[in-house]
Amino acid sequence: MQIGTSLTHCLIKKQQAHPDASGEFTLLMNDIVSACKVISSYVNKGNLIGILGSAETENIQGETQKKLDIISNDVFTDTLMQGTQVAALASEEMDEVYHLPANAKRGKYLCVYDPLDGSSNIDVNVTVGTIFSVLRAPEGVENPSEQDFLQPPGTEQVAAGYCIYGPSTIMVLTTGEGVNGFTLDMDIGEFKLTHPNITIPEDTKEFAINMSNQRFWDAPVKRYIDECLIGKEGPRGKDFNMRWVASMVAEVHRILTRGGVFLYPIDSKIRAQGGKLRLMYEANPMAMIIEQAGGMAITGPERILDIKPHKLHQRVPVILGSKNEVQVLSDYHKA
Ligand code: AHG
Ligand code: MN
Ligand code: MN
Repeated sequence: MQIGTSLTHCLIKKQQAHPDASGEFTLLMNDIVSACKVISSYVNKGNLIGILGSAETENIQGETQKKLDIISNDVFTDTLMQGTQVAALASEEMDEVYHLPANAKRGKYLCVYDPLDGSSNIDVNVTVGTIFSVLRAPEGVENPSEQDFLQPPGTEQVAAGYCIYGPSTIMVLTTGEGVNGFTLDMDIGEFKLTHPNITIPEDTKEFAINMSNQRFWDAPVKRYIDECLIGKEGPRGKDFNMRWVASMVAEVHRILTRGGVFLYPIDSKIRAQGGKLRLMYEANPMAMIIEQAGGMAITGPERILDIKPHKLHQRVPVILGSKNEVQVLSDYHKA
């Protein structure tokens, strides 16, 4: 595909390459794209329309919701409900699976999403995003249950993507055939291919971790970061740089752009809950994107995409990024 090709055109081309395709996937992606354009517009307007700040409500994970968490969730959910391509939906901001009304036509996909990732950054005007994962709905099931969302491991995702609302709005997408990035041209309201065939550099000198959790880390992560901090004089033989945006979309986007490693590892403070980030709508879609771009994504001891999910809002440790660097962390977890 040529630089500048519209996302819509790329999706149609992809559909034409599969002669037996029904077009349902193209329509679903179209709805996702529409939802993200609307969210982008809200994020951009911010307090001009009074949508910054807390909603003073809590989601099922015990986190206080921002107004924009709720607005983004409504936009994404309502937009996908207007189509007929999904059989059910699930989101960070909804306690349970969102079922279709009794008489609504069911589609063959399930969609799981984090409508606004990094929402602690929204009030300070720092990058946020939307993350989504598309799964196949089980055949012959009228109202897919939580169990139906959990059937396949992340390797079975049909598509995964995120839309990042930064200085530009960029949609990054994989359907299992590489990763492409499309920038929203605000003047014409269309995403255009700007980042074709994204690949992550295999080596890096940049890590991202919330250092305030240092005293809670397990030995392998402690060792890894200690060695990064020693730099050239230590066993790694190179000086490292550090970043922490606190928006996973922003960290993953940086890694896709220039390499790096991102860690939200298990630590003693969050051990009981299994980790910080959620498997179904944060770790899995990002792991698929990272692997498709030539990187690696693990919990520490295991590959994220191999995890058999057991809960919709399940949390897992996440380590992802440049292949050779994540391999070092994987080796340290096995040592
Ligand atoms: P969300 O805003 O969807 O709840 O996700 C925030 C996540 C993730 O994007 C980020 O990497 C991490 O939480 C930041 O956590 P800390 O505030 O603990 O650094
Ligand atoms: Mn998130
Ligand atoms: Mn969120």
